[in-house]
Amino acid sequence: MKISLNGKVSNVKAVWYEEPVIKMIDQRVLPEAFRIVEIRDTKDLFEGIKNMTVRGAPSIGAAAAYGVAQAKALGADIEQAGKVIKSARPTANDLFFAVDFVLEHKEEAKKYADLYVDSIVERSRLIGVNGNELIGNGKKILTHCNAGALASVDYGTALSPIRMAKESGKKPFVWVDETRPRLQGARLTAWELVQEGIEHKVIADNAAGFLMERGQVDLAIVGADRITKNGDFANKIGTYEKAVLAKENGINFYVAAPLSTFDFSIENGRGIPIEVRSEEEVKEIKGVLISPKESMAYNPAFDVTPNKYVTGYITEYGVFKSSELKMLKDKGKESIIEQIEDI
Ligand code: MRU
Repeated sequence: MKISLNGKVSNVKAVWYEEPVIKMIDQRVLPEAFRIVEIRDTKDLFEGIKNMTVRGAPSIGAAAAYGVAQAKALGADIEQAGKVIKSARPTANDLFFAVDFVLEHKEEAKKYADLYVDSIVERSRLIGVNGNELIGNGKKILTHCNAGALASVDYGTALSPIRMAKESGKKPFVWVDETRPRLQGARLTAWELVQEGIEHKVIADNAAGFLMERGQVDLAIVGADRITKNGDFANKIGTYEKAVLAKENGINFYVAAPLSTFDFSIENGRGIPIEVRSEEEVKEIKGVLISPKESMAYNPAFDVTPNKYVTGYITEYGVFKSSELKMLKDKGKESIIEQIEDI
């Protein structure tokens, strides 16, 4: 992704590997600060994923792939390292997909971790190419959470088609849900759109329905953390209600994700493990208490949207309806590094 820091434009990825150190943009401190965190062992990586230094399904997968390579470079037990890394967060399929993929090639862990991450970047780009077809000039697009380059090493999933639309001369406009409680929309998506010069406005999470009803939203594109066999999908808490509102208002609702986010071992959304995070994330903003200290909070990090609300799944292989996802199922884990030109 292109970023401008102190007047200097550079190209950075959300996560990369300089053996034996994994480097990642600290997604906890943007947009106030731009900081790179160095991950030196499996314990650091576990913490970095859990505390959301790195976040977003494909970026978590990339960090995890490098984590297995790093454990090997450090002479550690890589099967054990894989178990620890997988236990950092439960919902994003990419985490499990990536660890298993590199463990299956443990003899050449670094080579396969690099191939995996390169493939994720190219797949994200192709999601952009395919999704761009769905975006007309000047359209107003709603998105939730951050499914941008930060969440997907580069390009993004939901933001990739919007980036491509801008590049191809269209003038997309983005409604950015703030995305309580971690504010990935207000902090991260808005930051990426500023960097790219894409027109946008941040809205309170509960403003989307009003805008849809007033004809201010042409289409919605969101990312996903796990998509099941029937097309039900988990994404950041609040996605479900946006999808229901979109259907009610006759607005097309798209989910953008690469193969690594699909979990065909689960029949439907009821089987997706949902992470519940700390009460503090809801009760505090930047360490300042906003609720009575006596109040308890409940903080599910994801919700599940049934397939009936999804107009299409934007993938690196094209755009599919839920009834067509079988075509992706037939691609095994190995296909993640298949020659990208074969896609
Ligand atoms: O808890 P997070 O910030 O990791 O949740 C991220 C999301 O829900 C994203 O929308 C999803 O991972 C898709 S990212 C390309």
